[in-house]
Parts: sequence; structure tokens; C-alpha cells
Amino acid sequence: MNPKKPFYPPREVHVQVTHSMPPQKIEIFKSLEGWAKDNILVHLKPVEKCWQPQDFLPEPSSDGFHEEVKELRERAKEIPDDYFVCLVGDMITEEALPTYQTMLNTLDGVRDETGASPTSWAIWTRAWTAEENRHGDLLNKYLYLCGRVDMRQIEKTIQYLIGSGMDPRTENSPYLGFVYTSFQERATFISHGNTARRAKEHGDMKLAQICGTIAADEKRHEMAYTKIVEKLFEIDPDGTVIAFEDMMKKKISMPAHLMYDGRDDNLFEHFSAVAQRLGVYTAKDYADILEFLVQRWGVEHLTGLSGEGRRAQEFVCNLAPRIRRLEERAQGRAKKREPDVAFSWIFDRKVQL
Ligand SMILES: [Fe+2]
Ligand SMILES: [Fe+2]
Repeated sequence: MNPKKPFYPPREVHVQVTHSMPPQKIEIFKSLEGWAKDNILVHLKPVEKCWQPQDFLPEPSSDGFHEEVKELRERAKEIPDDYFVCLVGDMITEEALPTYQTMLNTLDGVRDETGASPTSWAIWTRAWTAEENRHGDLLNKYLYLCGRVDMRQIEKTIQYLIGSGMDPRTENSPYLGFVYTSFQERATFISHGNTARRAKEHGDMKLAQICGTIAADEKRHEMAYTKIVEKLFEIDPDGTVIAFEDMMKKKISMPAHLMYDGRDDNLFEHFSAVAQRLGVYTAKDYADILEFLVQRWGVEHLTGLSGEGRRAQEFVCNLAPRIRRLEERAQGRAKKREPDVAFSWIFDRKVQL
């Protein structure tokens, strides 16, 4: 943290490019209003049918509350520190939700112009945010009760992160923005699914259910965002494949890439390394998501593209195997063991990277 600029992000963000989508393309999104109502809003769940964090937590008004909390804490004792580093990192990522709603509202043609705009795009963004808000709530309350983590350090990290924002490089373009969200929803679906699987391995079925339930929401959101991009491929294959290439060339940065706890200048890298080692979210997952999206959108079979579009098509279609080859080569190199790193989130206990 720069002591002279206390509210600046912990490191340099990229050159800020804005409004790169040609303004006439805003009309595409205006004309898709009705389509979005029939095809995107249907992926939202009515509040009355939604789960709430309280469904998975000890009931504070009940006489059995203390007993339930005790059982939760007994189960948590069986889970190793490195798992908690991953779960805390995931929770902090979810808790920076104000940043993601802001990001969606930077996008030209789909932003919520008033805060209560009746357009389908704005309705989606607000209801998506409201659904997502349960994720951070649930994980936060679970972690508070489990007694294994330093809540104050975690809360500081959240405050720093929301203050820093994020730099997804989506340039106010809904083309870039919806490629980014398609990728991210699938990434969170995978990582929450993996924390669920690991919790099960450690014998905590209740925590597995918590993570699995959140993962299911992410899957539903992925379906909506990938459908939007599918529609863009139909209407404007050239512009969409070029946007896809652009995002992949810039690399999809994780939403919490600017995280900081007031101590560790490489906190995000350290958290990512633990997630990689535990198989919660890995370089292989990144390549798999890319490959999934290429197939989902039929990128290989696009026809009638311009020269630039054909080059973009070739780039994205060949990228996943390239990432995998690089990854295998990196894995093959004899790696010296990194020194263990202390995480303030778990009272400065050290974890292997
Ligand atoms: Fe989420
Ligand atoms: Fe999500």
C-alpha cells in the first residue's frame, strides 16, 4: 500500500480504456430487450423459491443453537488450514459484490441507468446481485461460527478489496463484459464445486452442502451469461469473436486480483497458489473453461467472418491446447519447494504454497 495514497489499489492497474464499443452497437442491446426478458430473466429464481443463508446455519432463536454451533465447530476441527485459506479467499471474492454490480453497470447499452430501471438488462443485474449477495453472507456467517479463522483480518481484506475495485479491462463494452462474466461464473462454479468436494473428503457434509448450493447458483448464472454471448455470436459473429479474442489475449483476471490484507503484498498470488495446489482452481481449469466456451459458442464452425474475425477465431480455438502445453512444461520442470507462507486470515499460521 502506498502510504501517501492510502485508498489506491495495492498495485498498478492497466491503462484504462473506455467506451471501445462503437456507439451504434448500443442499438443491438436495446433491440434485445424483449429477447432478454424471455430468455435471460427466466434463469432467475423467484425469491420465494430461493434458498437463504439461514437454511444452512444454526437457528439463533432455537434452544438447540449452542449445540448446533458446537457440532459445526467440531466438524471444522477436522479440516486443514490450507482448505480454510481457499474458503476464505472464495468468501472474500464473493463479499466484494458491490464491485461486480458496479462493473456490470459500466457496460454501455445494458447498465441500470437509474438504480430502478425497468429494462430487462437492469432487472437482470439487480436480481443477479441479489442472488449473489447470499453467497458471501452464507460463507461469512459459516466462517464466523467455525472459529478457525481471524475474522477481523478477513473483514479488513474485504474493506481493502471493495475500496480497490477490480480491473477486468472490459472497456464499457457488453461484448467484453459478457464474455468476462461467462468465464467468471463458470470459474466460480468450478471452485465452489471443488471446495464442496474437499469438505466431503474431510467428512463435513454440511459444509459440502453449503459450497455445493452456491456452486449450483453459479451454474445457473453461467447459463444466462453464455446465452447472451451465444445470441451476440448469432447477430454479430465478427464483433463477438473479436471480443472473445481480445478478452483472452488480455487474460481473464480474477475478480479479487487486487486483494490485500494490510500485510502481504502478494496475498492474491499466495491464495491462488494454495488454490492451485489443493485443486480448488487451477491453470488446467482455466484452459478447460476456455475450451468449454469455444465449444458452447460453436466458435470453430463460424462462417462468413472477416479476415480479422478469422484470425480471432483461429486464436481462441488454438489457445486452450497452447495453455495446457505451457502448463505441462512448467509442471515438468523440477520445482524447488517454495517456503511456506503465513496467512493473516488464519492467525499467521503458515501454509505450503
Ligand atoms: Fe457467487
Ligand atoms: Fe457468480
